[in-house]
Amino acid sequence: MHVRPQGLGRSATLRPMTEKLTTERLILRRWRETDREPFQAINADPRVMEFFPAVLTPRETDKAIARIEQHFETHSFGLYAAELIEARAFIGFVGLSVPTFEAPFMPAVEIGWRLAFAHWGRGLAAEGAQTVVRHAFETLELPDLVSFTSTANSRSRRVMENIGMVHDPAGDFDHPRLPEGHPLRRHVLYRLHSHGEGK
Ligand SMILES: CC(C)(COP(=O)(O)OP(=O)(O)OC[C@H]1O[C@@H](n2cnc3c(N)ncnc32)[C@H](O)[C@@H]1OP(=O)(O)O)[C@@H](O)C(=O)NCCC(=O)NCCS
Repeated sequence: MHVRPQGLGRSATLRPMTEKLTTERLILRRWRETDREPFQAINADPRVMEFFPAVLTPRETDKAIARIEQHFETHSFGLYAAELIEARAFIGFVGLSVPTFEAPFMPAVEIGWRLAFAHWGRGLAAEGAQTVVRHAFETLELPDLVSFTSTANSRSRRVMENIGMVHDPAGDFDHPRLPEGHPLRRHVLYRLHSHGEGK
C-alpha cells in the first residue's frame, strides 16, 4: 500500500494541475523548449551559482529541466519557468519542489527561486514567490512550506524574510549531498505556515 507522506497536503491525484500563475510583472508557467538555452546560460553563470557546489554544464541543465517537468507530473506542482512580461523573456524559475534528500524536516515542500543575474534586485523573486505561496496554501492546501539555503546566501534569505518566512534555527542542517568540511554545507531552514506565522 502506498502511504502518502504527511505534510504534502491533498493527494496529487486529487489536485488540479495549475499550468500558469500570473503576477504584476511575471508569468510563471510550465517549461518550453525555448527556455533551455537561457536556462543553460543561467546555470553556467558563476555569480548565479555562487552558493551551489558548481556551475552546471548544458547537459546537467537538460537533466534538471527533465526532473522539473517530471516533478510536475508526479506532484501537480513544481518549479515554474518565470517569464518577464515586459520583455516576454524567460528569466529563471520560482516555484515548489519536494526535496529528494533525507533531513529532519522532511517530508516537506520547498519554495525556491533562481533568476538570471541581469534581473536581480528588482523584487522579482519575492513577487513571484508571494504568488506561489498563495497557490500553495489556497489551491494546493499545503499546510506549510520550507525554504533553505547555504548560510551565507543573504540575498535568498532576504527573499524568504520578505515573503514572511521565519528562520527556524533548530532546523538548520548540514546538507547531506555536500562533503564534511565543504564551505557551503551548513544550511539555514526557514518555515511558513498556512495560518500566517513562520513557527
Ligand atoms: C536569490 C535571488 C533569486 C534573489 O532575486 P531578486 O529578484 O534579486 O530578489 P529580490 O529583489 O526579491 O530581493 C533581494 C533582496 O536581497 C537584498 N540584497 C541584495 N544584495 C544583497 C547582498 N549582497 N546581501 C544581502 N542582501 C542583499 C535586496 O536588498 C533584497 O532585499 P530587500 O527587498 O529587503 O531590499 C537571486 O539573487 C538568485 O537567483 N540567486 C542565485 C540563485 C540562488 O541562490 N537561489 C536560492 C538558492 S536556495
